[in-house]
Amino acid sequence: MVKKNIENDLTYIEKVKKINEGKNLKYYILTMGCQLNENDSEKICGMAEEMGYTKTDDIIDADLVIYNTCCVRENAEEKLFGKLGEVKKQKEAKGTIIAIGGCMMQEEHIVNKIKKSYKYDVIFGTHTLYKFPKDLYDAIIENKKITDILDIDGEIIEGLPIKRDDNIRASVTIMNGCNNFCTYCIVPYVRGRERSRNPEDILLEIKKLAKEGYKEVTLLGQNVNSYMRVEREKGEEISEINSFAKLLRAVNEIKGIEKIRFTSPHPKDFTDDVIEAIRDCKKVSKFIHLPLQSGSTNVLKVMNRVYTKEQYLSLVDKMKKMIPDVKFSTDIIVGFPGETEEDFEDTLDVVKKVKYEQIFMFIYSRRRGTPADKMENQIPEEIKHRRFDRLKNLYENLVEENNKEYIGKSFEMLVEGYSKTNNEYLTGRTDTNKVVIFEGKEDIIGKVVNIKIISDHKWYLKGEII
Ligand code: SAH
Ligand code: SF4
Ligand code: F3S
Repeated sequence: MVKKNIENDLTYIEKVKKINEGKNLKYYILTMGCQLNENDSEKICGMAEEMGYTKTDDIIDADLVIYNTCCVRENAEEKLFGKLGEVKKQKEAKGTIIAIGGCMMQEEHIVNKIKKSYKYDVIFGTHTLYKFPKDLYDAIIENKKITDILDIDGEIIEGLPIKRDDNIRASVTIMNGCNNFCTYCIVPYVRGRERSRNPEDILLEIKKLAKEGYKEVTLLGQNVNSYMRVEREKGEEISEINSFAKLLRAVNEIKGIEKIRFTSPHPKDFTDDVIEAIRDCKKVSKFIHLPLQSGSTNVLKVMNRVYTKEQYLSLVDKMKKMIPDVKFSTDIIVGFPGETEEDFEDTLDVVKKVKYEQIFMFIYSRRRGTPADKMENQIPEEIKHRRFDRLKNLYENLVEENNKEYIGKSFEMLVEGYSKTNNEYLTGRTDTNKVVIFEGKEDIIGKVVNIKIISDHKWYLKGEII
């Protein structure tokens, strides 16, 4: 995969900075999507700060308002249009610059709607992140509205500035796009074809993070365990590290990094070499996100997930055998077109069998341009909601059941700060993402401690330092 030369585009950072000099300008950003979208926002923030803006969490103070959008489900649209309606007054009062980027901007009908009915200055897409400084410059200098969307199947972009949200945990995008075309999903249309970053660039980024004091990295992509697959098939790989398993092993060698996570993998790409790498690499978290989507073989087939209920369950069994103490989280969609009661029961059955630690549950949302949107057997809203509630109940019971297993056991965790709901306690999270509260002095914030769990409270656990 060819890296795009963006040197010229980045010269606009200096140009905007010159215009902004001495003005003490502020920017506000709202990120609406997944972790990839958040990682893009960190790059947008990096560019904004180098252009002389400082961050504010209060939109009222902002001279530049940025929305980084998502379109994976319908409610995202209502949310964006609501926000654009609200910010209009501020723009009229003090000329706030409004920039809208992200996945939703790759949808033509949305861009048309914004152009017709809302105020904005810059619209940029998922393939034109690096052009944000130039677009902003053009919008300021020429005082005109800029729409900069490309439909190309994205190149690899390296070298954007980045302002990270955290100083201990970092996200590192290892690949972009998706080739899976699950029939409900809009991501392949708005993020383009699958392409992997070169391992050298990824490892360099993580080594730099380790030097800066970061302890944890999350490797990101829409389908991380097919890392370098496209390149491998085309004979384009340029390094020995030409698979996800090899990448995990290489990251595991980086001194200073203590924990490695990744999301999202696809069950179909969970080959033995990946499972072995997770098993062998001490730093790789044994808490695995394994998207199910549906437990019914019939529905999975129409979803184009290319695995059956049985194959998914045997993959889980295999992983449980090969990786001691492995735990799972998952994504589930209820109410996919044609889903019968029986199909839904299959989903509940898989949930009971796998005993997930965490489930992200979604009601099927029709997305324009996807095959599932055109299916005639759409499920009535009422049934979708009823099934969602049943799944939610099962999940809540499962959480309580799983919590019991934690009592009496000890876990190493990073002290993140005071608990937001009860500031007499400090808080941390187990590897499986369970919130734990415990008593302790302020000076242990940012340190790793060993906590023994003493009681369970559904959405959090209580522990004590040992
Ligand atoms: N590439 C990742 C994540 C994709 S988006 C993966 O395959 O796991 C995150 C989740 O949103 C998906 O896993 C799916 O559960 C959900 N999702 C995607 N499209 C959806 C739709 N049209 N309606 C409801 N949920 C959807
Ligand atoms: Fe969407 Fe499927 Fe790709 Fe995930 S794997 S992004 S659900 S098409
Ligand atoms: Fe949303 Fe785009 Fe992520 S559609 S889920 S922000 S890839």
